[in-house]
Amino acid sequence: MQKIKILVIDDNSNNLTTFQTMVQGLFPDAVIYTALSARKGIGLAVKEDPDIIFLDVVMPEMDGFELCIELKKDDRLKLIPVVLNTAFSIDPQMRIKVLEAGAEAFLKKPFDQSELATMIRSMMRIKSANMLALHQKEILAQRVSEQTEKLTNELERRKQAEIIQTEVQAKLKKSQISLLNILEDLKAQNIARLESEKALKESHEKLRDLAAHIQEVREEERKEIALNLHDDLGQKLTALNIDLAWLAARIPTDFPEVSDKLISMQGLLMETVTGVKQISSKLRPSILDDLGIGAAIIWQTNEFSNRTDVPCKVSIIPEDMTMPDEIGTQVFRIVQEAFTNIMRHSEASNVVLSLIANESKWRLRIKDNGEGFSEEDIVDKQSFGLTGMEERARLCGGTFTIKGAPGKGTEIVVEIPISGQ
Ligand SMILES: Nc1ncnc2c1ncn2[C@@H]1O[C@H](COP(=O)(O)OP(=O)(O)OP(=O)(O)O)[C@@H](O)[C@H]1O
Ligand SMILES: [Mg+2]
Repeated sequence: MQKIKILVIDDNSNNLTTFQTMVQGLFPDAVIYTALSARKGIGLAVKEDPDIIFLDVVMPEMDGFELCIELKKDDRLKLIPVVLNTAFSIDPQMRIKVLEAGAEAFLKKPFDQSELATMIRSMMRIKSANMLALHQKEILAQRVSEQTEKLTNELERRKQAEIIQTEVQAKLKKSQISLLNILEDLKAQNIARLESEKALKESHEKLRDLAAHIQEVREEERKEIALNLHDDLGQKLTALNIDLAWLAARIPTDFPEVSDKLISMQGLLMETVTGVKQISSKLRPSILDDLGIGAAIIWQTNEFSNRTDVPCKVSIIPEDMTMPDEIGTQVFRIVQEAFTNIMRHSEASNVVLSLIANESKWRLRIKDNGEGFSEEDIVDKQSFGLTGMEERARLCGGTFTIKGAPGKGTEIVVEIPISGQ
């Protein structure tokens, strides 16, 4: 057990000695501090931190009550139990004064040894209880402060989190707004794009219609010019030829130069008649209108072979094939362009052409064994032959395909549905 430390304050040194002797007799290990005055007593109490203070009530400069009040005011000393000692009788008045001064107990002088021993033990218990209470209070205070700190930190954290949340929300709102704006822009752009696509499509359609119309008109004009050339000019030239023959028969035999001139004029006239016929059938072969698509294709094939010396096998099935004029014209022009391309690009030595009608469609196929072509040959070219063929097929409600590979020849296929026949 730790040593008991007792401070005793009394202005009478004999009293101090007696007290010291008695206590040491009871608790040999006890440490006893003595003070003859209140001031010295306070100093010792602060310095030594005793377990119990015994105070004499009657002292010159400051009596025991006043000193007790002073001690209890001091935070460092107020937990030390104070016992007031007095030689006076302890009446109720006195007890009240003792309690009001804050002292824990009082003891009547001269001290009874066993009473003193009991008093010291009970004051030691009070001191321990005070210390325990202090300790617990400190722990409690510590916990409260820790808890407060935790709460403060938590509050601060929440505050920060709230600030961050508000910032994030603001940013989110901002980005939502800009997202909405972007979406709006995109929508507007999309609408504008769709509108311009529609306008483009419409103008494309118009152009196609215009091209088709121009072709129709051109075809009609060609037909008319060819007819005029053939009938009108041809007939007049023939009449002129007859006239020349009539003139030749009437020229006297002694004008041989005139006869020779007439003969040469007749020759020139015949050549002109042939030329006119050729031009007329180039513009539009009358055979197309007179004998139909099958005969026109056979005639065109012979023209091609005669001009190029390239044999071309033709199959028209059925042989007496018929088709509406406008479709026949388109198919014939496709065949002409195909032959022109073969002549210009293929170096072919053989060509096969077939035009076959089944129940639902006409199928035209022209295949040569020439050089063929690659993708680059036909992409981005300022040429209109293939486009024209495709457009003609489309105008008939059909399809056009061309297949070719370098060195493997070229094949074109046109398929036109037979409808309303
Ligand atoms: N039978 C073929 N054999 C080889 N190449 C061909 C054949 N037909 C077409 N081509 C290739 O396809 C290209 C495009 O043909 P297209 O008829 O459109 O144009 P083009 O004949 O060059 O010019 P144009 O506008 O006067 O017809 C040709 O330039 C050629 O390279
Ligand atoms: Mg061409």
